[in-house]
Amino acid sequence: MLETPTKTIDETRQGEAFEAFQNDPNQYRKHFYIESYGCAMNFNDSEIVASILNENGFGATRNIEDAHLILINTCSIREKAEQTVRNRLVHFKGLKKSRPEMLVGVLGCMAERLKAKLLEEEKLVDLVIGPDAYRSLPALIADAEGGQKGVNVLLSREETYSDIAPVRLDTNGVSSFVSIMRGCNNMCTFCVVPFTRGRERSRDAHSIIREVQDLVDRGYKEVTLLGQNVDSYYWMSQDGTEEVTFAKLLEMTALVSPKLRVRFSTSHPKDITDEVLFTMKKYDNICKNIHLPLQSGSTRVLQLMNRTYTKEWYLKKVDRIREVLPECAITCDIITGFCTEAEEDHLETLEVMRYSKYDLSYMYIYSERPGTLAARRYTDDVPDEVKSRRLKEVIEVQGKSSIEVFSACIGQTFEVLIEGNSKRSEEHWSGRTTQGRMAVFPKGDWNLNKGDFATVKINDATSGTLIGEIVFV
Ligand code: SAH
Ligand code: SF4
Ligand code: F3S
Repeated sequence: MLETPTKTIDETRQGEAFEAFQNDPNQYRKHFYIESYGCAMNFNDSEIVASILNENGFGATRNIEDAHLILINTCSIREKAEQTVRNRLVHFKGLKKSRPEMLVGVLGCMAERLKAKLLEEEKLVDLVIGPDAYRSLPALIADAEGGQKGVNVLLSREETYSDIAPVRLDTNGVSSFVSIMRGCNNMCTFCVVPFTRGRERSRDAHSIIREVQDLVDRGYKEVTLLGQNVDSYYWMSQDGTEEVTFAKLLEMTALVSPKLRVRFSTSHPKDITDEVLFTMKKYDNICKNIHLPLQSGSTRVLQLMNRTYTKEWYLKKVDRIREVLPECAITCDIITGFCTEAEEDHLETLEVMRYSKYDLSYMYIYSERPGTLAARRYTDDVPDEVKSRRLKEVIEVQGKSSIEVFSACIGQTFEVLIEGNSKRSEEHWSGRTTQGRMAVFPKGDWNLNKGDFATVKINDATSGTLIGEIVFV
């Protein structure tokens, strides 16, 4: 799952939709402020939490000073992610000194991992609520208002929040996330997610399609279907007459509207099927971008990671994607310095990267997480300086690959969905190609708006941006 950069409501781009706030702010008795960290699923969960709170008389505020309740939706994936949250909790503690009636709640993966310990460690945290327990938030808030601190970190085998319409918190009004499943049944030995998110379960396909239709009705142009391992999505109707696989769900989503772009993340190399690739090929509006985390290019290390594929299997998947979908971008996640990783393992990672020619990769140094299989079974034995040097080499190879991929676009034209002004200039639009490549181009006299499509000819490129001009709309 792609981790999105941390955004807070404060950073919501000005003038853009903030649905939770669009309603009359006076209709709410009280206000909550929420910050989200970690992956897109966590951001989407914050939107579910916002919906639950709206129903219970709490409106969202971008202004921490107005908040009766501060929530922090947390991530445990690496130690650094947790440290960031701890620093924020210390800051909130400071705020609480002058406003003792204000409540502070910890949501998400760190809440699940640390449970009541968070109440003990961070004395001024009032609520600790795990990812499957958000429906109990109103009751726990009421208890906390009465002075009783609350914890609910029960994991569920069924909860998918399928009946809750997320309130879009931080949106450009063009693209939105839709969670299609929760939890993860893979036991990658380095990973904390199975412990913090519980067993995998797929959401009712019809509730997904209803949510997508609603987004289309409200003018959204792009959805990203989210799950830790989307290819293992599987839903069956209660009477057993209807079965929906991920390929089928992709098709159903693509058919909601030919003008809606459909993305998805994350695909596990062991599970992505030909059926998914051919569904992508069949529908122009399914974006040609696959996030296919490698983690390591060494079969020996992959086995220790319990990724259940080999280097050769992975390379064959890349070949198959290139064969069926020649224009498809592939992106990747890589961990350097996993337990026992030797120089030759590292060189194999670089080799697979050079072969696969990723558009971009998210590259991490291995961070041991307490309680994971790797923490229990193996020693975190690669010295820090070796991890860092290998990461640097991984980043270098990725940099070259990005430049190659982006430069190869020069002279071509792409359909770009406009997401908003470019960061640097109000005279330029920025948007993405179907591959997910960012393109920047002058607005000119075309009279376009955010959410429109433009055909853009690429004249120049950096390792992360295509620079071009509109040739027609
Ligand atoms: N479900 C996704 C991954 C979710 S976590 C998948 O299977 O691909 C996102 C990324 O964080 C992972 O792909 C991995 O590269 C990285 N990651 C997970 N645990 C980590 C750890 N303990 N140390 C460093 N990086 C880690
Ligand atoms: Fe973690 Fe592996 Fe599940 Fe991804 S597939 S969330 S890396 S256990
Ligand atoms: Fe996501 Fe971080 Fe949890 S990556 S699932 S928020 S541990």
